[in-house]
Amino acid sequence: MKKLSLNLIKLCNILSDLNFHDGTALGEQLGISRAAIWKMIQKLQNYGVTIQSIKGKGYQLDAPLWLLDTKIIQEESNLSDLELTAFEEIDSTNSYLTQYKASSPQACLAEYQTLGKGRFDRAWASPFGQNIYLSVALRLHQDMSTLGGLSLAIGIKVCELLENLYTLPHLLSLKWPNDILYEDKKLAGILIEAQVEANGSCRLIIGIGININMISQQNILTPWTSIKRITHKDINRNNLAADLIACIHDCANSFDSKGLAHYQTRWNKRDYLHGKAITLKHFKNGVSGFAEGIDAQGQLLIKLPNGEQKTFSSGETTLQK
Ligand code: BTN
Repeated sequence: MKKLSLNLIKLCNILSDLNFHDGTALGEQLGISRAAIWKMIQKLQNYGVTIQSIKGKGYQLDAPLWLLDTKIIQEESNLSDLELTAFEEIDSTNSYLTQYKASSPQACLAEYQTLGKGRFDRAWASPFGQNIYLSVALRLHQDMSTLGGLSLAIGIKVCELLENLYTLPHLLSLKWPNDILYEDKKLAGILIEAQVEANGSCRLIIGIGININMISQQNILTPWTSIKRITHKDINRNNLAADLIACIHDCANSFDSKGLAHYQTRWNKRDYLHGKAITLKHFKNGVSGFAEGIDAQGQLLIKLPNGEQKTFSSGETTLQK
């Protein structure tokens, strides 16, 4: 677990103009030795960042690498009591916030996760510097029964935010409960973990992974995309991180038991499964039928082959071939 250093952020910001920069000049700009610059370059290369190093010319990045800057994110999120931490490397931002509890709302970002967690105990690919790996921890003022609905509402808000920030030719869709897809490919995932506290209140850890600047990655088994693959632009993640933290916060604090009602139409227009033949893996059982949207609690409605409609509050869905 390593916190992000200001010098690493500054170095990457300078190199993000994609010109060659000589080690001595970089050292002078940062007020450190040429050897210290070389060490940082090596560290970045070990994380898998492509940096050319040519004698007499210096170092050059092949794509901008604007690292996460907590000063910018804290300011732009407009949450004065937020405890925000950004790591260069961590096992998982969700695991960190599960262990490390503060009384104020917390957010944790990382450039690289060694053990990024997805739903159903899957790994979440988390290459250095490319995507958003964010967890937000807050206390829920409602009872746990609203959790399912809240997780759908957060998915909707994240879709709306991404569409407002970037020009995406098509609408983002949501695969129940909260996988964010673009043209059948996964763009983002949400993993919510809940802790019941001694006083009976509930602390939520809302983890979001969004593929941003990633254009190639070996170890992802399902079809995926990223904002850069869609827009062909390099994205500075700082504004997005700030907006995400503010929006999750807002959504969780304003959500109550009736809350999902005013998200229903917004859900319907993004409902990826609606009308499709699906299989839901629910504990050890599989249920097949046609997806018919969600109910007022955010549960999935499936019409079974015998015509009966059933509701499900959890499980993994796949499209039938
Ligand atoms: C999914 O399976 O779709 C959920 C993926 C959630 C990934 C994010 S990345 C930030 C946070 N930390 C983790 O270890 N997981 C979540």
